[in-house]
Amino acid sequence: MTAAEPVWPHLPERAAGGPTPARSVPLDVLRMAGMAASTTTEWWRTAVIYQIYPRSFADASGDGIGDLAGVTARLDSLAALGVDAIWLSPFYRSPQKDAGYDVADFTDVDPLFGTLEDFDAMASKAHELGLRVIVDIVPNHTSDAHAWFQAARASAPGSVERARYIFRDGRGPNGEQPPNNWESVFGGSAWTRLTEPDGTPGQWYLHLFDSSQPDVDWTNEEVRAEFDRVLRFWLDRGVDGFRVDVAHGLAKHPDLPDFVIDELIDSMGAAQMGHPAWAQDGVHDIWRRWRAVVDDYDGDRILTAEAWVEPLSRMAAWVRPDEMHQAFNFPYLMTPWDGTAVKEVIDDSLEAFSSVGAPATWVLSNHDVVRHPSRLALTAPNPQGVGIGPDSPGLPRPEVARARGRAATLLMLGLPGSAYLFQGEELGLPEVLDIPADRRQDPTFHRTAGERYGRDGCRVPIPWEADAPACGFSPTGEAWLPQPSWWGEFARDRQEGDPGSSLEMYRAALAARREHGLAAAPLTWVSGTDDVLVARIGDVTVACNMSTEAAALPAGRVIVSSEALDGTLPPNATAWILDA
Ligand code: NOJ
Repeated sequence: MTAAEPVWPHLPERAAGGPTPARSVPLDVLRMAGMAASTTTEWWRTAVIYQIYPRSFADASGDGIGDLAGVTARLDSLAALGVDAIWLSPFYRSPQKDAGYDVADFTDVDPLFGTLEDFDAMASKAHELGLRVIVDIVPNHTSDAHAWFQAARASAPGSVERARYIFRDGRGPNGEQPPNNWESVFGGSAWTRLTEPDGTPGQWYLHLFDSSQPDVDWTNEEVRAEFDRVLRFWLDRGVDGFRVDVAHGLAKHPDLPDFVIDELIDSMGAAQMGHPAWAQDGVHDIWRRWRAVVDDYDGDRILTAEAWVEPLSRMAAWVRPDEMHQAFNFPYLMTPWDGTAVKEVIDDSLEAFSSVGAPATWVLSNHDVVRHPSRLALTAPNPQGVGIGPDSPGLPRPEVARARGRAATLLMLGLPGSAYLFQGEELGLPEVLDIPADRRQDPTFHRTAGERYGRDGCRVPIPWEADAPACGFSPTGEAWLPQPSWWGEFARDRQEGDPGSSLEMYRAALAARREHGLAAAPLTWVSGTDDVLVARIGDVTVACNMSTEAAALPAGRVIVSSEALDGTLPPNATAWILDA
């Protein structure tokens, strides 16, 4: 196997005992930071947004798959952590071929996760706690179980039903070859041939992901109008925004030309710049239309792009003032543990995003990548999507992974802008390697016959109580992906109140980030060479040692650190220091 403060307009004050509300940020400070905020109520410019992957967060029903009632029951712990918002990955009706990113009905909750009433209860509890609620929207494709695709299957070539998708005749004398050479992100061809209702081999349909995820045709006004309806459905239910799946994939070159890929697909389309399926200019009209829909609502609702676009200067087009509010900073996420590279990507990010008046965002982990403690300690290349398993080369040493994971987090949470956290990272969870082949569920694993491990290792249901069934994930002890025997060591209840724990480091950092207004403060480098990065951010000095030797600790009072300090900054460590 190869390696492969303000109290926001529609939110109440935080509950007593919860984290301190954000301070009001003076406008001149925002301007200095390159954040041309017209109002300090633009909460998203500085927010920390916590990703909930519902199937792996908390299971109230006991079937081994997390659900919305489980989320509601555990929201207090997120408010206590000190985040500003939650983003939920899809919980819509779906056959779950791609863990819910294959949506059969965009305006209903899958029974696996509960009901629309469960959603309302969850959102209302989140809002009571002062947490904004962002939901995922998946506009590039539907499930093949969606009523539209079912109708397309049953209809003739050239019909209005087929025109909602990208159907083409095949090449070759009998149309037996796919219309072009595009590859699915999950491996194999991006085309699947239909068997027509009369049993004969028929047209091909495009799927940039799994064959169960046919791409819709965004040149079709019916498609555009339907998604306006879907947006309004959730906005009317009170959501604070959308994380937009595959925001660089909706527009395809009209000729669907062949494209010769000269490198391994190393992410969700990012390596394929120039590819006629990705980052085409046509997407921007769609985002302008969506922005108008979102702006129709009060309460500062947002759009966040999942756009694997490089370089950052190009990604900035997704967050121009009339398009989306934020885009995930994947170039930051993909940067290895190397001081020069990290400094460069921070500088590029601040410049690119501020050039269009958008906040920089920062992210280290999500449900598609190897959890960052493990990833940053790998000693062999591991492109996004390949994942790691027991046979992967360059596997991380646990102590290096732990230290780098903590240090990287503390650096990220000090940076100006908005940050995204992925459930379980506050516990310091590493990637799980030892998932048996017959329990793996990521289509990447199956479409590559196990050549790529895929993404299951970051999706294992998270541990809440060390000694409870399924570590508190599920009352019955069931878990859709097996939890390793050592999972309980990382459980939340083991970490609560332990100042050396990952959980307490995250809490301390989030509280200090608020208290010192770091997210809206200007960044100035004190030094950024030799793998020791030292920056002034507001009144705090953030120092991160990525070298193999201890480094000088800047003078002052340490307010948060990723390691116990003895007068120096050890390798793989970050500290926040306040002037004495
Ligand atoms: C990106 C999502 O994050 C990923 O999990 C999903 O597989 C693809 N888009 C396809 O929807």
